[in-house]
Amino acid sequence: MIRKVKGTRDILPPETRLWNEVERTALDVLGGFGYSEIRLPLLESTELFVRTVGEGTDIVSKEMYTFADRKGRSLTLRPEGTASVARAFIENGLGQRPQPLRLSYFGPMFRYERMQRGRYRQFSQIGIEILGAATPAADVEVIMALHTFLAELGFDDLVIVLNNLGDPEDRDRFIEGLKEELMPHKDELCGDCQRRWNENPLRILDCKVPRCRELVAETTPVAEVVSDEAKAHVDEVERALAELEIPVRRAPRLVRGLDYYLRTVFEVISPELGEDTVICGGGRYDRLISDLGGKPVPGVGFAIGEDRLIEVLPELTRERVLAERLVTVLPVGGKTMGRAARLARDLVLAGAKVHTEVTGRSLKACLKWSGKMAASVAVIVGEQELAEGVAVVRDLSRGEQETVKLDTVVAAVIELLEKTD
Ligand code: HAM
Repeated sequence: MIRKVKGTRDILPPETRLWNEVERTALDVLGGFGYSEIRLPLLESTELFVRTVGEGTDIVSKEMYTFADRKGRSLTLRPEGTASVARAFIENGLGQRPQPLRLSYFGPMFRYERMQRGRYRQFSQIGIEILGAATPAADVEVIMALHTFLAELGFDDLVIVLNNLGDPEDRDRFIEGLKEELMPHKDELCGDCQRRWNENPLRILDCKVPRCRELVAETTPVAEVVSDEAKAHVDEVERALAELEIPVRRAPRLVRGLDYYLRTVFEVISPELGEDTVICGGGRYDRLISDLGGKPVPGVGFAIGEDRLIEVLPELTRERVLAERLVTVLPVGGKTMGRAARLARDLVLAGAKVHTEVTGRSLKACLKWSGKMAASVAVIVGEQELAEGVAVVRDLSRGEQETVKLDTVVAAVIELLEKTD
């Protein structure tokens, strides 16, 4: 028995319908705000993530699926999408197109993480990036698109938290101060944080070890050491969001686990999954494209964890999407199969969802099967009826049935389906 790889999932029907619905809504809403899909490879050069997400981050230092290909090149299954978007922007000369460029992406990402609820090794993200706009208006648009999308899916209890990381120069100053404040307790930090101390001290703020958290909680938050320009930028974002009546909460210690961010960073928290299993993360990254060798092009965006989003999808939305108004088409005996298939096709073209009986069951077994499938309506196509130019349309929820002319079967079924809505 071969089993799936740890941390991967089989997503089965009808659960997949929730995924289809979430992705359709994302295409509609995010597309409505002007974001067009870009499809990017799952495999990238390892160096791409080392140079963008950052060497000292958990993602790069512990979580990447990295391997040498047959020619010995180091490749990585992408752990996130923003770095690939930046690479593709440079490689395809997307700076030549009218700016700003609005892009969306969907699909699997890979991180070797410890498994728990909402944390997988293969998971899917839905993300957008706006490239070529440095103003707070772009941050506001991205957060507004996120909020609109979540509201469209029926969410009303998610919390958006926001912080100001300042510019890289501010961050250097912040890190100096952080080290100074932590110095007297340096020995109490965990082994990982000892390593972070030299390699990437900002990442001490990501540590989940309780003692490290306690020590960090005593230090000055990053938002307090940012420049006036950076402060004005994020304050303006916050003001506009208030005007849009999009509630956001300041989280002065939020730093996000990736190195490319500056100024605005944000996350979406669900009360159900808690603060360590966030639904969405995003922020501004004005130096990312130039750090990869492109011209300086500012950017801001977010990525939603689709697995987590679906795990906490509001019950009403779940019920609406999963409610199936199924029709079974049941050829019974003799030469009924061809006519039944034609009826099935006409029903599908009229918008119904059809399962046709194709295993040669008896009528009794057909009706039992329709019940198990939770069908709303069954169309029974018997030999005798066909000879008379009719079929039986059975309302399975009420247990009533009528005999109708073959050319009115579709209309009769659709009417019944509408009644059960
Ligand atoms: P991130 O916070 O690393 O940001 O990931 C975004 C979201 O992906 C998380 O909030 C979470 O919902 C989901 N996620 C991450 N790891 C896992 C996992 N192991 N299992 C399930 N879901 C997971 C980024 O990836 C940035 N590229 C976001 C961004 C876009 N920033 C600017 N533009």
